[in-house]
Amino acid sequence: MTESATLKMAQKSREMRAAGKDIVDLSLGEPDQDPPAFAIEAAQQAIGENKWNKYPPVMGYMDLRAAISEKFKRDNGLHYAPEEVMVSTGAKQSIMNVIIALAGPGDEVVIPAPFWVSYAEQVRFTGATPVFVPSTLEEDYKPPIHRIAKAITPRTRVLLYSSPTNPSGSVLTQAELEELAAVVLKWPGLMVISDEIYEHIVFDGTHRSIGAIPGMLERTITVNGLSKAFALTGWRIGYIGAPKAVVQAANKVQGQFTSGANGIAQRVAKACVEADPALLHGLREVYLRRRDLVLEGLAHVPGWRCNKPQGAFYVLPDVSASLTGKLRTSADLALHLVEHAGVSLVDGDSFGAPNTVRLSYATSDALIAEATKRLAEAVAGLPKN
Ligand SMILES: Cc1ncc(COP(=O)(O)O)c(C=O)c1O
Repeated sequence: MTESATLKMAQKSREMRAAGKDIVDLSLGEPDQDPPAFAIEAAQQAIGENKWNKYPPVMGYMDLRAAISEKFKRDNGLHYAPEEVMVSTGAKQSIMNVIIALAGPGDEVVIPAPFWVSYAEQVRFTGATPVFVPSTLEEDYKPPIHRIAKAITPRTRVLLYSSPTNPSGSVLTQAELEELAAVVLKWPGLMVISDEIYEHIVFDGTHRSIGAIPGMLERTITVNGLSKAFALTGWRIGYIGAPKAVVQAANKVQGQFTSGANGIAQRVAKACVEADPALLHGLREVYLRRRDLVLEGLAHVPGWRCNKPQGAFYVLPDVSASLTGKLRTSADLALHLVEHAGVSLVDGDSFGAPNTVRLSYATSDALIAEATKRLAEAVAGLPKN
């Protein structure tokens, strides 16, 4: 397995900071704001109750699973019963459980590219083969559905994607989801893993779930969690809604690897999924402003070309024009920029997007302005082709 490129870069910037360097870290997809007060109160209350200290059930406390089932209905039009819900230690574990449950040697998992770094490695871990479907900046980093359809074969067990997408911020429209669903429904047994962890950060229109399309609920594992919407990355709670057989298989996997997710964090999760989703509407405004700020700043970086993200908090500029001399890959460039400009980014290679770098704008307006200014200066100083 390869190390997570995002975690590796975050570690490097932590080390450089510890050595006294001034680093603006745009590498990690971690919200900079505080979690809502009610989440912290729920944790304090749960600790005070002194009754959530034992091994929790592997699939999660039943009242939490029921609350998640309601959330899926309320926000996404997804009718998963509580028995079709399972809680894990982060969405990352939720996805890993499901891939282990569904795929193995000889199987293929189709992944539209660019994709979130862990998908490819998680699939390889099971012995299955990830099949990437490329796309370009001009296509808004969304492969046309007919290209995805062509990649599906009788060996394909799973189609795996996130919308809004990490690393590009692209969002699948309802029309695209319907077209995709029509392709999936032609292949009995083909399952979709729909990672919706950025559902609350969509700039135009509303977030849509493929599982809500007629015929698709039985084919869809919907993934979500607390990390991005509630800024609770450290409490490590993710969850799925999925057909019962998938949940049962994922339960076996999790039961052997980690057992149930942290008990106190599950009480926090219940408070979060029961909270009025209107509380999260402010997120959209914050990230929209930052998106525009980062695009404005990047417009001054010579030669970089940007997509216009429609959701999440990432942008994926094409940096081909800066790959000159010793800087042959976007990884070389990312290293150069952290060392010489003090800005930490992640190279696009591990996201299936060569010649790009990913910036996370989940940070303050001031740091975004500073980072883009430094990038413009550093890139202007690179040797010309
Ligand atoms: C698309 C996507 N899915 C899942 C995750 C992981 O979330 P969690 O913190 O719940 O493991 C991330 C985190 O960066 C992500 O970008």
